[in-house]
Amino acid sequence: MENISYEKRENVAILKISRPKFLNALNTQTLLELNQAIEDVKNDKDVYVLVITGEGSKAFVAGADIKEMSNMSVFESREFSILGNSVFRKIEELEIPTIAAINGFALGGGCELSLCCDIRIASENAKFGQPEVTLGITPGFGGTQRLARVVGLSKAKELIFTGKMIDANEALNIGLVNKVVPTENILDEALLLASQIAKNAPLAVKMCKVAINKGIDVDINTGLSYEAEIFSHCFSTEDQKDAMAAFLEKRKIDKFKNR
Ligand code: CAA
Repeated sequence: MENISYEKRENVAILKISRPKFLNALNTQTLLELNQAIEDVKNDKDVYVLVITGEGSKAFVAGADIKEMSNMSVFESREFSILGNSVFRKIEELEIPTIAAINGFALGGGCELSLCCDIRIASENAKFGQPEVTLGITPGFGGTQRLARVVGLSKAKELIFTGKMIDANEALNIGLVNKVVPTENILDEALLLASQIAKNAPLAVKMCKVAINKGIDVDINTGLSYEAEIFSHCFSTEDQKDAMAAFLEKRKIDKFKNR
């Protein structure tokens, strides 16, 4: 792959968008490579957490590629939006937790990429925004749908209608990011969080993620009955038996078996 790098550290995968000359802007090729990389993550049973970040210290992703979009026809722009939306939805639907390590500009498609991750950590120099209306377009990779779900209708509308940029602290204040960390520590902080998650029973963590995501879209009774299903499903795993036995024997479990 030319524009995506993929690395594994124990049970954590790191996916890096790597087009630094263009501030990691997403063109069609990068979206197709990202799609392939996500398929690889999905098929790797040893990956328990995924971290997504951008190459360099200036940008996470500065949006969809404006040069490529500038000459698109109505048909081509529709295909481009459908491609971006399908790749981002695939990220959102991964069963393993995903963390966006936002190391600079997260604009347009970059903010949207972070929004389909479960947790967002921002470097102090990160900047967020949906500047599409300043380019005569709307967000096209999920911004009109996911931003409001994360920060609420009113803030999402303010950000999308003005196209303004906000800094990392304001992003923290409105709940767009979970944490702001020194710029030079961004990947380490994301990996620290990833390793805390990866230490836990992977099947239970996955089931929690699926239940939370499912629960947001259904009524409380449907959500609670789904929780009873996944809760009881855990009792069919070796990890539940090992962990509860370890607790009762007052010892620490070494490593979960993911079974
Ligand atoms: N697409 C293509 N190229 C981009 C880009 C983008 N989104 N963002 C930056 N670049 C390129 C610049 O054209 C420039 O290339 P050249 O050196 O060849 O001129 C290079 O990256 C460096 O950028 P700047 O010189 O502009 O850097 P800066 O520090 O002066 O400004 C910035 C940084 C404020 C992020 C500015 O680059 C910028 O405003 N970028 C565009 C941000 C944007 O509007 N994103 C939304 C795109 S629309 C979208 O994403 C739609 C969607 O939802 C699908």
